Order: sequence, then structure tokens, then C-alpha cells
Amino acid sequence: MAEWVNELRAALARELEGAPAVMILATVDAGGTAHARCIVCRRIEADGRLLAVMDDRTSKIAQLSRNRRVEAVFWLPKTRVQYRITADATVVAFPADEQLRRELWRELSDASRALFFWPTPGIAPSPDDADAQAVAADVPPPRNFNVLILDPRQVDRLALDTHPHRRRVWRQDTNWMGVDVNP
Ligand SMILES: Cc1cc2nc3c(=O)[nH]c(=O)nc-3n(C[C@H](O)[C@H](O)[C@H](O)COP(=O)(O)O)c2cc1C
Repeated sequence: MAEWVNELRAALARELEGAPAVMILATVDAGGTAHARCIVCRRIEADGRLLAVMDDRTSKIAQLSRNRRVEAVFWLPKTRVQYRITADATVVAFPADEQLRRELWRELSDASRALFFWPTPGIAPSPDDADAQAVAADVPPPRNFNVLILDPRQVDRLALDTHPHRRRVWRQDTNWMGVDVNP
């Protein structure tokens, strides 16, 4: 396991104590405009891949289909550490990898599963819209439920807990060798 994977997993466990691991995901649209939003990191695999879930009716999906290079950022305020993860994104959409989609679907809360039955995100609400409140785990995931896999290429950790601050960069193309750089 790469040094940074152990470090990030341990830092999140210390920081969050079971709370959701919220990260900022930045994508770029066809015109070159960057878009950043919070999403929950559902899992960090031993090889460093980050898993999240999303609705394929949201605009990030179209952005990812044109440009799969993203940056994800964690800020851990108690530890005073930032992780910036440059990654290549893969969207797992129906009918691909139904097992993975179902696995992540079942791990969501009833309230989070309900979001995927809400009306189309980003358009004007209609008076006829009915927003589901809770969806049980045994309901199969709808087709708009996607899993996002982020495959890291570079990880940049900035620690503000000391003076001077400490910054370390790991790159996949050097086999995840860590290099200290100036903050
Ligand atoms: C704390 C927090 C967690 C969120 N988690 C997710 C998530 O896991 N997946 C997701 O698609 N959107 C999540 N959202 C909503 C996104 O930030 C965003 O509003 C939505 O996905 C539409 O984004 P887009 O139009 O850029 O695609 C979360 C928002 C907040 C504030």
C-alpha cells in the first residue's frame, strides 16, 4: 500500500470519527470552466482508488465524459492537513458492474437513496414533483445511480500543524515515491 494511502485513511479516521468524508471534486467543462462541489468519499481502496456515488442527471457527468482528469481535495480542520488528489475518473453506469453499483447502493442511508428518485437536478421545480423521503436497501438501484471511481495520479499533502508547514508530493509515475517540497 502506498505511504499516502495509509496516511490519508488514518487521518480521515482520526478526523471524522465516523462522520462522512466530504471532499471537493473539481471538474472542467467543454468551455474550460472549472466546477467544484462537495461529494462524499464512500471508500478508499487499498490501491488508493476513491469511490463516490452520483446521479447521472447531474452536470458533472457530462463534464467527466469530455474530460476525466479531476482534482479532489480534503481539508481536515482538526489535523490541519489538506490533501489534493489529481485523478482520472471512471463513471460506472448501468448496466456496467452491477455488483459494485449494488454494493454502494446498499451502503447508503434510506434518505440518501431517496435522492436518486427526486426530479431532475438543476432544472426548475414543477408543482407535480413528488420527492421520495426514504428508499429501502432492497429496492434495486435506479439507472441514474452511478458509481464514480477516482484513480489517483498525484497526491499533494500540505500540513499546517507545524512551522514551517510541511508539504509532500507522491506521483504514480514514480511508483508513489514521496518527495518533500517547499510549502
Ligand atoms: C456535504 C455534501 C455532500 C454531498 N455529497 C454528494 C455526493 O456524494 N454525490 C453527489 O453527486 N452530490 C453530492 N452533493 C451535492 C453536490 O455538491 C452537487 O450539488 C450536486 O452533485 C450537483 O452537482 P453538479 O451540478 O456539479 O453535477 C453533496 C453536497 C454536500 C453539501
